[in-house]
Amino acid sequence: MALVTFSSPEYRDKTVYAVAGSHTQTILKLALENKIPINFECEDGECGTCVVKVSSIDKKHERMGGPLTEKEKTVLRETGKLTAEDLEKMIVDDLPSEWRLACQMIVRDEDIRVEY
Ligand code: FES
Repeated sequence: MALVTFSSPEYRDKTVYAVAGSHTQTILKLALENKIPINFECEDGECGTCVVKVSSIDKKHERMGGPLTEKEKTVLRETGKLTAEDLEKMIVDDLPSEWRLACQMIVRDEDIRVEY
């Protein structure tokens, strides 16, 4: 079980349980199931509408999801969230990205905050 806290300047924070390790539950699916009003359009990692900022609130495991998908890399670069240097550094230093696409990021067994 993972706890995912959705946070927005316009709404109150909402923390929900996620079934981790399903390999199919994305942050966007979890948000929709819990009536959290994240913006989205394509649901396929193409438009960048669902971009979110993810941070770890799990003191034991300071990771935020798996590595970026190829679609995320492309869209996050196109939208200016990440530069080529940022991406390079993440690969070299094996660092997670704080910027993610909610429709692409799979929930893992870790407690995270998702700002939308
Ligand atoms: S909804 Fe289009 S990239 Fe996620």
